[in-house]
Amino acid sequence: MPRKILMTSALPYANGAIHLGHLVEYIQSDIWARFQKMRGHECWHVCADDTHGTPVMLRAENEGIAPEALIERVRAEHLRDFSGFFVDFDHYHSTHSPETRALAELFYERLTAAGLIEKRGIEQFYDPVKAMFLPDRFIKGECPKCAAADQYGDNCEVCGAAYAPTDLKNPRSAVTGAKPELRRSEHYFFRLSDPRCERFLRQYTRHEHGVLQPEAANKMREWLGEEGEHRLSDWDISRDAPYFGFEIPGAPGKFFYVWLDAPIGYMGSFKFLCEKKGLDFDSFFAPDSDAELYHFIGKDILYFHALFWPAELAHAGFRPPSGIFAHGFLTVDGAKMSKSRGTFITAQSYLKAGLNPEWLRYYFAGKLSGALEDIDLNLEDFCARVNSDLIGKYVNIASRAAGFLHARAGGRLPAAQADVPVFSAFRGAASRIASLYEAREYGKAMREIMTLADAANQYVDRVKPWELAKQEGKDAELLQACGNSLNFFRLLTVFLKPVLPAVASMAERFLNIAPLTWADAETFLPEGHVIHAYRHLMTRMEMKQLEALVEANRENLAETPAAPEKKAKGKEMDAKTMEKEAAAPVIGIEEFSRVDLRVARIAEASRVEGADKLLRLSLDVGEEKPRQVFAGIKSAYDPEALTGRLTVMVANLAPRKMKFGVSEGMVLAASDPEGKTGGIYLLAPDSGALPGMRVK
Ligand code: 2FM
Ligand code: ZN
Repeated sequence: MPRKILMTSALPYANGAIHLGHLVEYIQSDIWARFQKMRGHECWHVCADDTHGTPVMLRAENEGIAPEALIERVRAEHLRDFSGFFVDFDHYHSTHSPETRALAELFYERLTAAGLIEKRGIEQFYDPVKAMFLPDRFIKGECPKCAAADQYGDNCEVCGAAYAPTDLKNPRSAVTGAKPELRRSEHYFFRLSDPRCERFLRQYTRHEHGVLQPEAANKMREWLGEEGEHRLSDWDISRDAPYFGFEIPGAPGKFFYVWLDAPIGYMGSFKFLCEKKGLDFDSFFAPDSDAELYHFIGKDILYFHALFWPAELAHAGFRPPSGIFAHGFLTVDGAKMSKSRGTFITAQSYLKAGLNPEWLRYYFAGKLSGALEDIDLNLEDFCARVNSDLIGKYVNIASRAAGFLHARAGGRLPAAQADVPVFSAFRGAASRIASLYEAREYGKAMREIMTLADAANQYVDRVKPWELAKQEGKDAELLQACGNSLNFFRLLTVFLKPVLPAVASMAERFLNIAPLTWADAETFLPEGHVIHAYRHLMTRMEMKQLEALVEANRENLAETPAAPEKKAKGKEMDAKTMEKEAAAPVIGIEEFSRVDLRVARIAEASRVEGADKLLRLSLDVGEEKPRQVFAGIKSAYDPEALTGRLTVMVANLAPRKMKFGVSEGMVLAASDPEGKTGGIYLLAPDSGALPGMRVK
């Protein structure tokens, strides 16, 4: 019986590039979708960009573009990367879409009608300089537990403590450096603590239901606690303006929190697909739907998918998911991906380096299981495994057999010898491999497949076609051996097709057959079938390609405009080689205090047409109007990276008329006398300083 399946992959944020960590999931889900489709099921795989929230808003602002322009550009980049890795969504949408807006409003309306939305005033950190409430991740300070400096407002990366931003010592805004103030504002909450939600979730996530993996079900039990403990807290689903998102109907200046509309974005994407293809959306989402609904996610977002999302769905008149499939994180060579080590590898850099995307698909498949455990990309093992399995065991079977068949029989095949024992091993394996794919036990599936490939290669080594080819009167035997080999190759291709879609399609062309489905594992190539000439299916991987990739990603760090704020220019200042500038003559304190130094916030920075060295800065020094200052720092700073930063300026310098306009002051920067390092280092006050403060 064909099943009706809707599956989703987590929506990537619209403010960053796809990297290999993301690809663990998209490759995992794409393999599953391809497998289901090969089995003849109706399976739809949808995804979208997760476009809303403060980081997208600020990133667009820093780039000097509208958020709509940013998300459009990033969506195109994401699509390019997915197609580069053969991740083939049936539809890839955006949460900033009419479908998602309409559905978000519908959820809100229905949950309100069910009495599950509540309005409440809360106190939150507010950045007085930027005039906005600060998300936890945009507040930094010292950890209240271990006093580590520079920790985010939600948890400490040094000791792992979780806390509220108000617990931080010496908090400051990560946006402007300003000291945040506590302010009150009305927020909307989804009442997860309501007994109806708790009752539903206990029932829904009981292990026997199979919605959650065992480890996830354990986590759930921990979150839910014992009956009567009432551990669940309400969930804040609104954010104050300025915010890039959907305004809440009837609540001007209040927006749906990005995590409210993200999972609704799954439905928005599918809704769009339904309209395009004439599918019945309700038959997938009605409470009595007979369709299966699966979400592939990373283990870090289990809370959103296993608690909030099913509770929202169930109380807004929709069906909950049939399964939530969480996977672990990716490490590279046993460690967390790292920009400085060059192991934070972007999808684009991998493709640009000329590495074959199917190598990675195969390697990830070999490591993936149905559990939440992390997987490691060990670069040496990656190279060795691909070469030994894909080239040595799989592709070689075809290349060895095809030559003889063409030379001696015009590519025409004899009937397969069904009684050769290797074939019975293949027959028995098909349903086992299918069960492994179904359970997302791809690692085990790949091992089964390679055991079959080993058996096929042992057959070839036993019958030795290259020796038969040299002997008189052995042509029929030779052709038989080659025909059998090509049948092995075809069966292996059926099993590997979900993982290697491009190689499979080249193999189908070479074998001169229609696209393979799972049912083809039960059949052979018919007698007399003529294959095309063999064309190379895959090249070997060289370790030096991976080394170059890591190197390229190391360099990336300095080039990424969003990461470090300073352009990497020449060598860093080296204390030993630096020529010391002679000290200026001594002055008294009165003389020094005649210089009015002020903290200034760079409200705007732009290039000056026709000026090689200058940037035009608009500086907020707490006065009514910003000051315009021309600063010779263009060689060291991108204007986009300066907006919002605090620096120090001379505020009582006589205005100077320049070719491009009047300069009303001067910003302070350090540099070496001969400009040898190319370095210019803008001064910045410690956190907490505010524009206009006197520096003395
Ligand atoms: O964690 C993330 O990257 C989120 N953008 C995932 C959202 S998945 C879903 F809920 F939409
Ligand atoms: Zn700590």
